Amino acid sequence: MIKVIEKLHHAEPGWQVQADVVVIGSGVAGLSAAINARKKNLSVLLLTKDLLSTGSTAWAQGGIAAALGPKDSPIQHLADTLEAGAGLCDQNAVKALVEEGPLAIKNLISLGTVFDLDSQGNVALTREGGHRQNRIAHAGGDATGAEISRALVSSVLADPMIQIFEHALVLDLLKDKNEQVCGVTLHVMGEGLIDGVGAALGRAVVIATGGLSAVFEQTTNPLVATGDGVALALRAGASVADLEFIQFHPTVLWVGEEARGSQPLISEAVRGEGAILLNEKLQPFMQNMHPMKDLAPRDVVAHAVVEEIRNSSSGYVWLDGRKLGEDIWRKRFPNILASCRKYSIDPMNDLIPVVPAAHYSMGGVQTDMSGKTRVPGLFVVGEAANTGVHGANRLASNSLLEGLVVANRLAEHLENLPKQQDPVAAKANGELISGELRRSINQITTTGAGAIRDEDGLKNTLKELELLVSEKTKEGSTQAWEATNLFTVSTFIASAALMRQESRGAHWRQDFPKKDDKNWQVRIKGEIEDGQIKLTTQTIAQ
Ligand code: SIN
Repeated sequence: MIKVIEKLHHAEPGWQVQADVVVIGSGVAGLSAAINARKKNLSVLLLTKDLLSTGSTAWAQGGIAAALGPKDSPIQHLADTLEAGAGLCDQNAVKALVEEGPLAIKNLISLGTVFDLDSQGNVALTREGGHRQNRIAHAGGDATGAEISRALVSSVLADPMIQIFEHALVLDLLKDKNEQVCGVTLHVMGEGLIDGVGAALGRAVVIATGGLSAVFEQTTNPLVATGDGVALALRAGASVADLEFIQFHPTVLWVGEEARGSQPLISEAVRGEGAILLNEKLQPFMQNMHPMKDLAPRDVVAHAVVEEIRNSSSGYVWLDGRKLGEDIWRKRFPNILASCRKYSIDPMNDLIPVVPAAHYSMGGVQTDMSGKTRVPGLFVVGEAANTGVHGANRLASNSLLEGLVVANRLAEHLENLPKQQDPVAAKANGELISGELRRSINQITTTGAGAIRDEDGLKNTLKELELLVSEKTKEGSTQAWEATNLFTVSTFIASAALMRQESRGAHWRQDFPKKDDKNWQVRIKGEIEDGQIKLTTQTIAQ
């Protein structure tokens, strides 16, 4: 069994700041958590690793799903979410999501988000994979996340009781003598007093750090998505679940064999408007795969794309969006059009070469639908959390919605926080994986624990990760802290993927190609015990 790092090595905090609530992350979940905490009259420290407006939310193209259309209802949204989740969704969590979804969109509008409207002046709704109704609200055509982020950031900036720290990488959680979380240690690349390692104290900590897809070689996420929140919650005693389920987005622009890091996404909404996938022989291949064809749930489409690529001599398939016409390309997809043109592709006349890339983690820190974890005082919201809403495969555009709904419910728990206590000295002897090993972690994770898996590959991934632990360092740096977090999440992903001996949703085992409800309609839960990974199974709440 691989040893995981239980505490990061870092200097003692040289400065301290304090508020009622510490929120880590400035995507839709973190910004909403901060705004909702202020509604309860609580002061907030908002910490973000990069700039306030950067991160995965601002990159979200497709949109946000909610049953807003005249022919739609929460019950239909529930049915589509459960079907996409392939038997592993927590039904009560999904029910809360779909019932509270329409109000969450109205709240966003009242905070200033400008959604695209239809000819009657209602929020325009489109379709994405797995949805049987038009229920995806979008903004600026394909700039939905950027518009939501703009509106939430301006609310946050207007509130003097929200103190913001940019370039702040959170290291570990602090606890008081009652084992209650009472703050975090963090490293800030700042100037003057607030620089280097410090402590941000609060009566509760909300992790909203986003995803972990930067653990793979190719991702649609920004490279700051290094699983920091999941790794730090694990080190503080939280449990995680569903980490074997990594969603690969089927249509990412192919920009060459050697492409690594963040890749340009071609939104599923392009297929929602009528584009179709073609194989090397220019034949449509989703026709017989699923009744919803090119708009099948994402795992089905990604699987079919991978199979086509394996059977072809090229490293990609084609997306044909030529029939969408100039008006749709210019108005609905201005940013995707610009991305394609940057690579000399004109999607009105040319086919677009596409490949799958890591997009979203269904797994994360186990929480209820209010973001509450098993660690007192610790809440997790957004992609870093696992509420059970997404099951084995997230339905398109349900993630921004989940961030909003959970951040809204979370505020109720923040009302009765215990009094702030001093942190007790944290465990000594922290260690780190060298920052230079990040590319190796990416390569090892992608090769054995990527879109296609089997026992040999997964065991090999774990063996190679184990070799990296022998190269530990005590030199604290952003690169080393991130590499250590990546190492932790990779180890959990590969271990859970090895344990799950079936194929389901986004988890595809070549050696166990079928879904096995009898043995595996369970959630794999993980934690750190005595410096090692402990995995157990848990029944699904139906
Ligand atoms: C997309 O626009 O295709 C991505 C939407 C999502 O991941 O929910």
